[in-house]
Amino acid sequence: MKLFAVIALCCSFFSARATPLPFEFLDCDDPDVLEAVDTALQKYNGDSTTGNQFALYMVTEVGPDKQFHVKYQIRETTCATEENKLWKDCDYKASAEAKTGECTAQVHMNNAEKTSNISQDCKIVPVQPMIPSTQGICLGCFHTLPSDDLQVSEILKKAIKKFNKHSEETVLFKLVEIKKAQRQVVAGWNYIIKYEIKETNCSKDQFQDLTHECKTTSEGRIGKCDAKAYENLRAEIVDIAKVVNPPTQVCPDCPRTIPIDSAELKELLKISVEKFNLETNDDVYYQATDIESATVQVVAGQNYNLVFFVKKTNCSKKEFEKLNEDCEITTDSQPLRCEAQIYVVPLEKKIIHEVNCSQYQIMV
Ligand SMILES: *[C@@H]1O[C@H](CO)[C@@H](O)[C@H](O)[C@H]1NC(C)=O
Ligand SMILES: *[C@@H]1O[C@H](CO)[C@@H](O)[C@H](O)[C@H]1NC(C)=O
Ligand SMILES: *[C@@H]1O[C@H](CO)[C@@H](O)[C@H](O)[C@H]1NC(C)=O
Ligand SMILES: *[C@@H]1O[C@H](CO)[C@@H](O)[C@H](O)[C@H]1NC(C)=O
Repeated sequence: MKLFAVIALCCSFFSARATPLPFEFLDCDDPDVLEAVDTALQKYNGDSTTGNQFALYMVTEVGPDKQFHVKYQIRETTCATEENKLWKDCDYKASAEAKTGECTAQVHMNNAEKTSNISQDCKIVPVQPMIPSTQGICLGCFHTLPSDDLQVSEILKKAIKKFNKHSEETVLFKLVEIKKAQRQVVAGWNYIIKYEIKETNCSKDQFQDLTHECKTTSEGRIGKCDAKAYENLRAEIVDIAKVVNPPTQVCPDCPRTIPIDSAELKELLKISVEKFNLETNDDVYYQATDIESATVQVVAGQNYNLVFFVKKTNCSKKEFEKLNEDCEITTDSQPLRCEAQIYVVPLEKKIIHEVNCSQYQIMV
């Protein structure tokens, strides 16, 4: 009960409005890779004298050794080279007019001396449609940081100080463990950190803030906390209670969830079930029961992934030309789990569609 009080106190403080985060937590890849690519791309932009800057589109390959061999795709932005902006600050050009390119780079980072040695080759190609991909590092996604990250400790120092100042506890609390730290590129960076604090032997009466003397006590209570922070482009922590929404174009190829009850989804589900009914050798029609998940990825068109369940109906294919409203699901039918991939190219009115269903083992 005592533990719960601390959790509520701590967490209600950091997320007073309890709104869910507006992004998806995709653990795309290593932040070191992103840093190496960032360094290489800044060099590429810095070396060119004309045209527009390029921004990272996605990382497609990372070599086996840690002194990075990377391949990444870039895309033209609206920032002119002479503006000397950081690419993260620039917007992608509309895809119909944007040049794209692929770079192969060897990046040697010397973190101690803050130097890097980069050799790379970039091939710029004129405008062409992108191929849908679920791989690659997603720029707008959250990337896990090592728990000894300097900025993370800075944020936690501030967050715990704020907690100690405002809490109704009689003693000061101290950081014991960072459970998870993640960062996302926006115009700047968003941080989300999960950590634990523990009671110390310093009372608030005697101490304004934590000092070396304050030690956690063995029977002290533990609080589980979340901190969110936003760091601007000048590397200043602007806010430690909330994060900013990423501009949508930062992560063009991140799959996004579609609401289960949307009209868009109903239509897609209908054509998927129709296709399955057409392809299956079964002599009755199947009908969809539940949707497990549905995502869409915007590429040169829309790439949908649906996972749903179907069950047999009492309509036989012999009797009916199509699944219709009078067909009811039979109670003894085993559900099949289906995965559909639908790729819609609006301009060409082309739909590439694949659906597979298989026996579904219900876990008990
Ligand atoms: C940079 O890397 C290349 C290739 O690995 C190497 O030949 C060169 O000596 C390096 N330069 C510096 C300054 O470290
Ligand atoms: C807290 O405990 C540590 C070690 O047990 C001790 O050195 C320190 O003086 C104590 N601090 C206070 C304020 O009692
Ligand atoms: C399927 O079952 C429903 C409900 O029992 C019934 O109303 C409907 O007529 C049946 N359809 C067929 C084709 O047998
Ligand atoms: C359907 O199955 C085929 C063959 O097993 C596979 O190549 C394809 O990727 C599957 N499609 C989906 C959408 O799961």
